Amino acid sequence: MTTLTSILHDKISASFSSRLTFAEVMDQALYHPEYGYYGPGPRRIGRSGDFYTAVSVGPLYGRLLGKLALELKAEMGSPADFVIIEQAAHDGQLAEDILAAVDVPYFIVEPNPRYEDAQRQRLAHFEERVRWVASLADLPAVPAFYVCNELPDAMPVHLVRWDGAAWQELYVQREGDGLGFIPGPPSSEKLAAELKRLPVDLGEGYTTEVNLAALDWMAELAAAPFCGAVYVADYGFDEAELYSPERKTGTLRRYKGHQTDDRVLEDLGECDLTTHVNFTRLIEVAESAGMKLRTYELQGRFLGKLGLSVLAGLEGKTDTNTQALLRQYHSLTHPAFMGRLFRVLMLYKR
Ligand SMILES: C[S@@+](CC[C@H](N)C(=O)[O-])C[C@H]1O[C@@H](n2cnc3c(N)ncnc32)[C@H](O)[C@@H]1O
Repeated sequence: MTTLTSILHDKISASFSSRLTFAEVMDQALYHPEYGYYGPGPRRIGRSGDFYTAVSVGPLYGRLLGKLALELKAEMGSPADFVIIEQAAHDGQLAEDILAAVDVPYFIVEPNPRYEDAQRQRLAHFEERVRWVASLADLPAVPAFYVCNELPDAMPVHLVRWDGAAWQELYVQREGDGLGFIPGPPSSEKLAAELKRLPVDLGEGYTTEVNLAALDWMAELAAAPFCGAVYVADYGFDEAELYSPERKTGTLRRYKGHQTDDRVLEDLGECDLTTHVNFTRLIEVAESAGMKLRTYELQGRFLGKLGLSVLAGLEGKTDTNTQALLRQYHSLTHPAFMGRLFRVLMLYKR
């Protein structure tokens, strides 16, 4: 039993109904300050970690986002107070790659002081250009390019199952030394309202997840003081794809050492837990909060176009740096790697 499982046992025993929502369990499993997967400080991402991200592929991604930032700044009329904002900056790698490519002031939205410490160390040589805030609401009212890579997939989700007549929430209870699921009515009005939007002809036992935290985050983003452009890259689907009849067990998975499975109540705190993003719903929330859609497309297509001028500049070169950049371009854009599963959502924000 992991320490986190025993912490959850105590929380379940102390709870009114002797159970927790899966969102509460996932929140602890990822963000418990001492024993959560992400709590104590940034873990390694990439070959020696549990999974790859576009950031861990190499510096080309940051270079492309830096280029995009300059294009957006020019579109906005080159305001002198333009900044880049990053959320989910992890160990500061993307910030370092972007800052190495462009000379623009940079804000990091970081609620975890241990992550801020790690980012400050990594970015020490850019320090006068980088500022930290603890939440979106603390950002200044300036024109900006907001970036996040793989943030909503790491937010705690509610698990739900169609029982043939109604959607039930799957709660977590104690089962011996471990944990198990038990169905019950939705834990909140908000979840019940989201469930009313789901299809009901999916077959008894159909299980999926609802990411209320991502919807709240999108509303917070819309309400944040900055204006300009928002860039969200993550793996995910349109709603029709996400809730397709074939996807009977949803998208919740755990990751450890580049292996993935659906044993999501085991080794809690030692594995990453993640779900695919419902981009349709994020766009709806963003638009109803006043943001405007700029782009929603496959990462491969988006970065493919953005990278064309970089590729053109590499023509005829054969040095190792060029070869590395070409490999990174391929990983970021090829449909068999990150090009198809990952999507880019860009919004305008007043
Ligand atoms: C899958 S990792 C992605 C890390 C990095 N962006 C990358 O692409 O390599 C998810 C990150 O989101 C961070 N995170 C989760 N909720 C956050 C929040 N509310 N504000 C800032 N970071 C958050 C976690 O600490 C973790 O570093």
